[in-house]
Amino acid sequence: MTLDPLLFGEIDPPQRLLMGPGPVNAHPRVLRAMSADLLGQFDPEMTGYMNQVMALYRPIFGTANRWTMLIDGTARAAIEAALVSLVAPGETVLVVNFGRFGLLLTEILGRIGARIESVEAPWGETVPLDAIAAAIERTAPKVVATIHGDTSTTMAQPLDGLGDLCHAAGALLYVDATATLGGMDIAADRWGADIVTGGLQKCLGGPSGSAPMTISDAAAEHIFTRRHTEAGIRATGTVDGKGPRIGSNYFDLAMIMDYWSEKRLNHHTEATSMLYASRECARVALGEGLEARYARHAAAGRAVTAGLRAMGLTVFGDDRFRMTNVTGVYIPDGVDGERVRAAMRDHFEIEIGTAFGPLAGRIWRIGAMGYNAMKHKVLITLGALEACLRAEGFVLPAGAAVTAALEAWEA
Ligand SMILES: Cc1ncc(COP(=O)(O)O)c(C=O)c1O
Repeated sequence: MTLDPLLFGEIDPPQRLLMGPGPVNAHPRVLRAMSADLLGQFDPEMTGYMNQVMALYRPIFGTANRWTMLIDGTARAAIEAALVSLVAPGETVLVVNFGRFGLLLTEILGRIGARIESVEAPWGETVPLDAIAAAIERTAPKVVATIHGDTSTTMAQPLDGLGDLCHAAGALLYVDATATLGGMDIAADRWGADIVTGGLQKCLGGPSGSAPMTISDAAAEHIFTRRHTEAGIRATGTVDGKGPRIGSNYFDLAMIMDYWSEKRLNHHTEATSMLYASRECARVALGEGLEARYARHAAAGRAVTAGLRAMGLTVFGDDRFRMTNVTGVYIPDGVDGERVRAAMRDHFEIEIGTAFGPLAGRIWRIGAMGYNAMKHKVLITLGALEACLRAEGFVLPAGAAVTAALEAWEA
């Protein structure tokens, strides 16, 4: 059977406003950058762009780390690359677990064959530093792994001081900052984090598919002890590291660092259009100014929270540790959460998020990040939610959400 080439039509998606936990709408400059012509991966123009990306992401990660680069893949790819390259089978890792993404770290480490210990907080809270300190002392881990902002619970784990604790105990610190990079203060060097990873599709306002990462010199040195260069690209006389070979080829950070270094040792084919996207995301963020950008996300978070409370809704989680860019809110009794989400989409072209695990069916998650952390987008979303809640028979003070959000934005 032949397939009519016109059968499926040109890609022409509806103009949805993505106000969930990510992905969000990409900045138009990022989309334009992605349509630029392709280059060969060793073209000096291309390797120049790679070096620029390294320079652009250092301030975004709050670091002077030489090894600041991209992993081709979604944010999870960078998480997996970090963990599989840091941790050998049988080594102990302490996971700081306060939500779905802490559980994801555990899941990945389980596949690596690590000995997993964890220190936990209930969903909606974070783990106190002294509890982490006690767990480090109890478990003597090689690596401590944590999430910064866990979108499943909308909580942000405080990280100041954690690197010192880890290093004093001889451990390296890994941080997943997928959901906060470019939106909240990310301070790899101040935290003392050895690897921090991110994604584009949240506060950086790009599409998913490229994952920025930064690696400390100490972590790089450790990873290079596990370097076993692929047969087809080895120079004669290459000496392998003495450590156990990294259990993944695609996510082998030793080889990926060799690719991003002046050696330009071929590994994967760098995803050119995604590199353009990452580069433009960083240029947009730095052009705005990181402090201004963090303030904009904080204003959006304040406005969403104030608007939801003014509607009589209950915001989820501990106010002291709230991420600025995603807010969880309980679905009120008697309201069908999925019907409200469908009405938001069908009538207003707005997507808000559902939830996972113990919170599934109990909360919605409303995001305002990257290109969508804007006053008008927050106000439109709250106004639409008010209309959809009324249609469900929920009684609320008319117009209160938008008024409260406007005030909170300016506060
Ligand atoms: C904190 C956190 N980590 C990791 C991920 C996974 O990202 P990706 O879907 O890009 O692989 C997400 C996505 O929501 C996230 O919020």
